[in-house]
Amino acid sequence: MKRLGVNIDHVATVRNARGEIHPDPYKAALFVKKKGADSITIHLREDRRHIRDLDAKKICSIKKLLVNLEISTNRNIVKNALRIKPKFICIVPENRNEITTEGGLDLKKNKNKIKKIISQFKKKKIRTSLFVNPNIKDIYLSKEIGADCIEIHTGHFSNLIKSKKSFIKEYLKIKKCAILASKIGVEVHAGHGLDFKSTKILTKINEIVEFNIGHFIIGESIFYGLPFVIKKFKRIIKN
Ligand code: PXP
Repeated sequence: MKRLGVNIDHVATVRNARGEIHPDPYKAALFVKKKGADSITIHLREDRRHIRDLDAKKICSIKKLLVNLEISTNRNIVKNALRIKPKFICIVPENRNEITTEGGLDLKKNKNKIKKIISQFKKKKIRTSLFVNPNIKDIYLSKEIGADCIEIHTGHFSNLIKSKKSFIKEYLKIKKCAILASKIGVEVHAGHGLDFKSTKILTKINEIVEFNIGHFIIGESIFYGLPFVIKKFKRIIKN
C-alpha cells in the first residue's frame, strides 16, 4: 500500500511571516492526519526558517502520529533530533542560501559521518532514510551505510514535467534506482517538487511506497482546501 506524507513546513512559514502564533503547525499536523495523511514531515532547518524546536517537540509528542523529521548532519541538529525522538528521520543536505533542498546527499563524501548518525537513530528504533539523487552508486552506498529507506529526490523530474520537457530519461533513472533499492532491501520513497501530474506518473513505479509532498499541497490548499487536496492525492497514490 502506497502512503502519503504531508510536509507542513509552510504552515510555519506563513505563521513566521507575521511573527505571531497563527496558523499553528501543531494544529496542522493533527488536521492533516484527520484528513488522511499517512504521516507528516517537518524539516528542522539549521536557520529555523519554518519549523522550530518547540513545534517539532510538540508535534512529535502527538500519539499515533507518524512524524518524519528531516534533518541535516549538523551536530546540534542531530543532538536535538535524538532528544525530540520522532518516529522517522530523513537525513538531507542543507545549504544556508538555498530556497529549498536542492539535491540529494553527497554520500561518498559524507559516508562515515552519515553511517554514525544512522546507527545513533537505529539504537533508538527510529526509522532512518537518506535523501538521495537517482544514482545507482548512491543506492548501493545507502545500503552499505545501513539506511532503512531512501527518498529519491524528484526535483529534476518534477521540473521537466512542469516545463513540458521530455521526462522519460529521468523517469527511467528513478525507476531503475527504485527497483534496485527494493531488491537489496531498502524501502523506497520519493519527494520534492511533486504535484498531481508528476505524482501520478511516479505511482507507476511499484517500488515507491511513500510520497512526501509539501509545497504543492499547501499552495493548492489556498484555493481548494487541505481536505480536498489530500483526498485527491490519496486517490492518485492508491490507484
Ligand atoms: N522530501 C524532502 C526530503 C524534502 O527536503 C522536501 C522539501 O522540504 C520535500 C520532500 C517536499 O518537497 P516539496 O515541498 O517540494 O513538495
